[in-house]
Amino acid sequence: MAEVPTEGDVVIRATELSKTYRTGFQQLFGKGGVEALNNLNLDVRRGEVFALIGPNGSGKTTTLKLLMGLIFPTSGKVEVFGANPRTSVDVKKRIGFMPDGPYFYSHLTGYELLAFYGNLLGMPKDEVETRVTELLQKLEMTTRAKQPVGTYSKGMLQRIGLAHALLQNPEIIFMDEPTSGLDPVGTADMHQMVRSMKAEGKTVFLCSHFLTEIEDLCDRVILLDRGRTLQYGDLETLLAERGKMRLRVSALTPAAREQVLARSPHVLEDADTSLQLVVPDGAESYEIISVVRDSGAHLDALTPMRRTLEEVFMESIARQQADAPWQDTDRGLGQIVDRGEN
Ligand SMILES: Nc1ncnc2c1ncn2[C@@H]1O[C@H](COP(=O)(O)OP(=O)(O)O)[C@@H](O)[C@H]1O
Ligand SMILES: [Mg+2]
Repeated sequence: MAEVPTEGDVVIRATELSKTYRTGFQQLFGKGGVEALNNLNLDVRRGEVFALIGPNGSGKTTTLKLLMGLIFPTSGKVEVFGANPRTSVDVKKRIGFMPDGPYFYSHLTGYELLAFYGNLLGMPKDEVETRVTELLQKLEMTTRAKQPVGTYSKGMLQRIGLAHALLQNPEIIFMDEPTSGLDPVGTADMHQMVRSMKAEGKTVFLCSHFLTEIEDLCDRVILLDRGRTLQYGDLETLLAERGKMRLRVSALTPAAREQVLARSPHVLEDADTSLQLVVPDGAESYEIISVVRDSGAHLDALTPMRRTLEEVFMESIARQQADAPWQDTDRGLGQIVDRGEN
């Protein structure tokens, strides 16, 4: 079922990408520093929502900056549309960036701010006007467009940040923690915006430390922990629990109930005449289904088991620590960090 991507479908490729932040002194000796990213390999395909997920400090922002060509890798290679994003002007025009907690001039209105950035990008004046008006409308900010940005809520600032990223109608949008600090309504709105960008055929690359919110949003994910890749791939495949089904039955007679329970030790919900159980995907599930059918009970649902992303993440971390406990040292402490690099 999974399609094998052709080369043309790959819009971003990272190959053995690593980044260690070093001060000038550390650079001179090629030692020390903070290892933010270790040997990242990934492909992002045109039109997908790709999520980079991991706790704070796992290297997400670093990866974004590397992929956009804003900082130098220590080693490895980045290609965006087959070119180097650091040097290609064409690539820069085709990508947009919504940073984490952007700083905006608070005395400008939403309209003025976007027009200001449009001018900075060298867009012609009338194009700036049409594009800004169109974006404000699309992001439902028209009524607030004449008020200073300083009066905006966090959700509105995020919308302005997104409008900024979309000014040049980019093909790829990079979003760094797009929902951080948003309330549930703001979060749902932001998800909707991501979905509509995908519907327009854009590629969305987002990073987040919220594991749960991503589950309904992205096509493929990479899980990072302290710069290392824990998991990479199709979200559904990652979440699927092979060989297990979730079964929901109702209108059970006491006898049928006993027979069903005898065949499945793992009960999720028990409400007398209805049950929710985990059954192995195979002969046993057929036996349970026959019991249900023969007793006249209702088979309400039979679905593959799905883990949460949080469970996948915790399992991967536990597995990594069991395999390589020496990697679990608290890196970064007491080291000189170069904050002036980017
Ligand atoms: N400019 C910098 N100089 C030195 N260390 C940095 C710099 N930026 C990030 N780091 C360190 O690199 C690691 C990864 O950071 P970051 O990419 O910001 O993670 P995330 O976005 O997942 O929270 C952290 O240990 C962080 O402290
Ligand atoms: Mg970050």
